[in-house]
Amino acid sequence: MKTLQRTLAIIKPDAVHKRASGQIVSLILENGFNIIGVKMLHLTQQQAEGFYAVHAGKPFFGSLTTFMSSGPCVVLALEKEENAIAAWRKLMGATNPANAEEGTIRKRFAEGIERNAVHGSDADDTARWELSYFFAGYELAK
Ligand code: CMP
Repeated sequence: MKTLQRTLAIIKPDAVHKRASGQIVSLILENGFNIIGVKMLHLTQQQAEGFYAVHAGKPFFGSLTTFMSSGPCVVLALEKEENAIAAWRKLMGATNPANAEEGTIRKRFAEGIERNAVHGSDADDTARWELSYFFAGYELAK
């Protein structure tokens, strides 16, 4: 039996600002993900700090959370058979767009390592935590 896996995706403020959200959502759907939750949010700095708490203390933390609260972002709950987390990370490409493969979202839309267009959970436990940061259970489609 095939199992469904979920992951959290964010279309970051840089990509929303350049009106790339529609193209990124199309890529998500064309690559076989189901979108089971979506919301547009303008995070406060405190909300961004809460989301990225794992990076607190790193030199880029202040700049990252300022950027993430600089404008609206689109938060998506994605579902796919077997490997949503790995498949979304592959479609995003490397964190630093300088290292991202052709055909990836970051290669196409990212401006740099911080303004890198999209976010994705990196493991099963972080996906569960990140999904619960933005979505209540009843907000996700069955
Ligand atoms: P994301 O996948 O959202 O996870 C953490 C984010 O921190 C990452 O994408 C980048 O936007 C940012 N980031 C990671 N490393 C650096 C870095 N060295 N300098 C600036 N930003 C970084």
